[in-house]
Amino acid sequence: MKNLLKLEDWSPREIIDCLNLADQLKYEQKHGIEHKVLKGKTLGMIFEKASTRTRVSFEVGMVQLGGYPLFLSSNDLQIGRGEPVEDTARVLSRFLDGIMIRTFKQEEVENLAKYGDIPVINGLTDYCHPCQVLADLMTIREFKDRLEGLKMCFIGDGNNMMNSLIVGALSTGMSISVACPENFEPPQHILNFAAQYGDKFTMLRNPVEAAQGADVVCTDVWASMGQEQERIARCEAFKGYQVNKELMSVTNTDCMVLHCLPAHRGEEITADIFEEHAKEIFEESENRLHAQKAVMVKCMG
Ligand code: CP
Ligand code: NVA
Repeated sequence: MKNLLKLEDWSPREIIDCLNLADQLKYEQKHGIEHKVLKGKTLGMIFEKASTRTRVSFEVGMVQLGGYPLFLSSNDLQIGRGEPVEDTARVLSRFLDGIMIRTFKQEEVENLAKYGDIPVINGLTDYCHPCQVLADLMTIREFKDRLEGLKMCFIGDGNNMMNSLIVGALSTGMSISVACPENFEPPQHILNFAAQYGDKFTMLRNPVEAAQGADVVCTDVWASMGQEQERIARCEAFKGYQVNKELMSVTNTDCMVLHCLPAHRGEEITADIFEEHAKEIFEESENRLHAQKAVMVKCMG
């Protein structure tokens, strides 16, 4: 049994194996080759935050693997009325074969795994978004044929996406430079992880400097789910941290742009750059399905 609580729990080998399996499952699905390797298994999907992609891709992915997904909104679960996660974990372990959870605190995901005895997959917390980053790495490999030696750049908030992209890029041989305003840096835990990789990681204030020579530019919203109240202050703090024509002009030729979505055109990315790179961005979105099927097979197979 295996969990995906955060990407740094997986070795580089495990990440690459998962990406290889995702490629294979994508090929099989496109060629009508059935792969019902989780036949008869059930996945509970707990959502304490909204979702379009994560919900639909996990649900459809489980069906394609021959299993059965259950959507569990925290509004309807006793967890939403204060039942401890320790108890929820032990109860759900008696019914299900795996749990996917999207919530606020990373601690809740870790506790679900600690107290339960079935695999737990993190579908986004305030701290990280490992499933999204596996899909991102898969997409980069598809467009660039490799990861090793490429330069990624992330512009914006030191949030769940930046955290997991730092881990994902460095674990797979890429270098990454991030640009974020003061007080919006990634947490110390991530900076310590990155420190092991020496000059393959750089943190800068200037977005154009960070984008210099990049092969992949990534960004994300300025105000994440749960930060709606900070929206106005954040829009002010992130002014200039935008993926636009000027920023793209210093990147490598054929530089990709990735965005986990939903996107706010005119804020973190301009509409013209978004549309110019829509091919990559929507492939990235599709790859959630394939990457997460691989995660489910690795964890629950
Ligand atoms: N990118 C992502 O996780 O999208 P959803 O919030 O729609 O699941
Ligand atoms: N950082 C964003 C990602 C959404 C997929 C959020 O947490 O809202």
